[in-house]
Amino acid sequence: MIRAMQDRVPQLVTTIAGLREAVAAARRAGQRIGLVPTMGALHEGHLSLVRAAKRECPCAVVSIYVNPSQFGPKEDLAAYPRTLDADLAALSACRPDWVFAPSNQEMYGRDHATWVEVGSVAQPLEGVFRPGHFRGVTTVVLKLLNLVQPDAAYFGQKDFQQACVVGRMVADLNVPVTIRVGPTVREPDGLAMSSRNRYLSPAARQRAVVLWKSLQLARRLVEQGERRAETILAGMRELVATAEDVQIDYVALADPQTLQPVEAVSRPTLAALAVRIEGTRLIDNCLLEP
Ligand code: PAJ
Repeated sequence: MIRAMQDRVPQLVTTIAGLREAVAAARRAGQRIGLVPTMGALHEGHLSLVRAAKRECPCAVVSIYVNPSQFGPKEDLAAYPRTLDADLAALSACRPDWVFAPSNQEMYGRDHATWVEVGSVAQPLEGVFRPGHFRGVTTVVLKLLNLVQPDAAYFGQKDFQQACVVGRMVADLNVPVTIRVGPTVREPDGLAMSSRNRYLSPAARQRAVVLWKSLQLARRLVEQGERRAETILAGMRELVATAEDVQIDYVALADPQTLQPVEAVSRPTLAALAVRIEGTRLIDNCLLEP
């Protein structure tokens, strides 16, 4: 009975020592360990990854940490939602074993001076518009992987490039972990769930569906036999431009492995875009399969 009650409440650890102790017990018991790194403000997209981790690993760890080093100086670090109590309540239904929510002091201390920087796949798309972003992501993700030493770590396709960059890092640095990528979870109208959606005013929220609509247009064009990237991109851009007060950072068709632009959709191709709506930056992507 006591065990059953404990199962429902994810146990919170805030220190590195506490985390190491928690996962060491699972490792000694021979349990497979899964890690789901997040920045909190959890929604169904995050929870789908936690459920996948729990399905595949008897010991699932969720980290909740708004990582300062992945935010640019003009980005939304201060405004980023911090909702630990609500996150813990949301997680209780998915039953992760541990939630790691460290302070900045615990994660970076005062003298942190080591950074992990992935080349090639980190450079296009988000890399152009958020210089330094992936360096912050890979550094914190490698730290989390070193702390938990999971068998598998779970990421969302919503951040397709992030998953590629993390995959490149673990391959290049021989980190013994399997990277699993879960599908993008969407609102009923198609908008990809994101912690940043809560910044949107009701009017901006309605307009935000243009990201999904433009990806669907790309899919339709490919289904109809269109292969020229320029034509597909022009259609996507035109559609996004129909929404008021929406600025495009990029709309791109890229090779899903290298993330380099393609001229024709002759094999599976990533369609990706980033737009700003009333100052909120949203990204989305899908695979086009000719
Ligand atoms: P965060 O934006 O909180 O996302 C955590 C994980 O949830 C990421 O792997 C992201 O791709 C996934 N995710 C977000 N929205 C999703 C959706 N709608 N459907 C499916 N998965 C979704 O990404 C980060 O945090 C950080 O960069 C992090 C990896 C934690 C490093 O700080």
